[in-house]
Amino acid sequence: MSSHSSIISTGAYLPERILTNEDLEKMVDTSNEWILSRTGIRERRIADKDEFTSDMGARAAEQAIQSADIDPKTIDLIIVATCTPDNVFPSTACYIQHKIGATRAAAFDIQAACSGFLYALVTADQFISGGVYRTILIIGTEKLSSIVNWQDRNTCVLFGDGAGAVILQSRPGVRGLLAYDLGADGAQTEILSIPAGGCRLPITPEALDQQLQYLQMSGKEVFKCAVTAMNRSAETCLEKAGCKPEHLRWIIPHQANFRIVDAVAQRLNVSMEHFVINLDRYGNTSAACMPICLHETAMAGKLDRGDLLLMVAFGGGLTWASVVLEW
Ligand code: UT7
Repeated sequence: MSSHSSIISTGAYLPERILTNEDLEKMVDTSNEWILSRTGIRERRIADKDEFTSDMGARAAEQAIQSADIDPKTIDLIIVATCTPDNVFPSTACYIQHKIGATRAAAFDIQAACSGFLYALVTADQFISGGVYRTILIIGTEKLSSIVNWQDRNTCVLFGDGAGAVILQSRPGVRGLLAYDLGADGAQTEILSIPAGGCRLPITPEALDQQLQYLQMSGKEVFKCAVTAMNRSAETCLEKAGCKPEHLRWIIPHQANFRIVDAVAQRLNVSMEHFVINLDRYGNTSAACMPICLHETAMAGKLDRGDLLLMVAFGGGLTWASVVLEW
């Protein structure tokens, strides 16, 4: 009989170049004090011009593959969560499949903005628990610096580049993914989007003049929706898993804004000590946030077998997602 999937290894890749709040002070009308007090972000990583989403994803994947000590040719499926793909098509997953030599793997991308990694994790779990596939590579990778308007202080201070990856298998004696909650609200597409570049509004000289190829966000609206949706989704997921917040060793929240995490912590009545935070160093890396946080927590020796984790994400769409898993 098949069982749910477990994360057997992790990997992450962050570009070398660091862009600090002080650097941003020289680019737009902003200040370290504003960025730090309103978001908690101190610095973020920026990929090279010729370093693509697939390059970062492949680096993170190679680390996860090495750490799992598996042959890339045994990977059955690659799912990449990204909203900054190398191309509209082919998928970034296909580029990565070739780069890492996973020649037997099927490959596709998932687009659920910042919730993408958890959507991918839950999708992968269906293949494993259904007995279809044995080994799945999931990657969250983003080059958000390529879709940010570097003249718009409302958004350019918030985002960064990076990638994280996990290998999923069913593992005897480990319960793995215990419960999940996925959701979306398509009535609110316009509060966080890239208006141009799809068939709705192709990239024309007029669209470029209005800078519609860049990410646009109604920050305050998104903030409010994020707190409500993350809290509700986390509670639903905990209930499905039959566990209480006090049973959790760690909560890994989407890394958009320290104040959002704080508000969710208060609503769940969980001390901030149990929340994993790295947004101060990387900003919001969208679909890459979750696997990077997971990798750093595991590498720091802060995860033991049997620990319960809650991961909760929120992003454009709007989308949200939560997962409770046993490490
Ligand atoms: O990953 C997807 C999910 N994304 C999110 O969850 C992001 C959610 N939103 C947020 O995190 C916050 O809304 C922001 C950090 C984006 C903004 O914080 P806020 O406290 O909601 O600020 P605000 O938008 O209300 O702006 C307050 C003021 C405005 O000035 P006025 O109109 O009051 O004079 C802005 O123009 O701050 C100004 N402002 C800035 N000032 C200095 C906006 N951005 C900046 C900036 N530096 N970078």
